[in-house]
Amino acid sequence: MSDGDGGKNLFSFLDDLNSGTSEVEQWVDAGSVEQLSAIGLRRMRIGGNPVGVLRMADGTFVARELTCKHHGADLSAGEWRGTVVVCPRHGWEYDLATGQCISNPSLPLRAYATKVEGGHLWVSLKRS
Ligand code: FES
Repeated sequence: MSDGDGGKNLFSFLDDLNSGTSEVEQWVDAGSVEQLSAIGLRRMRIGGNPVGVLRMADGTFVARELTCKHHGADLSAGEWRGTVVVCPRHGWEYDLATGQCISNPSLPLRAYATKVEGGHLWVSLKRS
């Protein structure tokens, strides 16, 4: 599916990733803004990487990696307390809204670029 500006779906993104063109900014459809607004938090995978998409109070979106900075556990399987997730392996805590690692502030979660276009949120693995 293309959105007319070079946007790609997950399968196209994975094809590019496998062909070694992943350095080029690729946008992945994270879903309709309307649906995401109703959900608040969406956990998804992009290129095999767990990603968390959160709608902020001001209506904007943030997308962050969901891989623990300690030993790489998948945070999407962790316990959620509002915007805070507890790592399922050793209990480090992260705030998805800010990216801060509460347990080790020197190791924040990376943010990914987002844009709203055509009524959908698009996420790029390019760092924002
Ligand atoms: S892997 Fe997450 S706290 Fe150890």
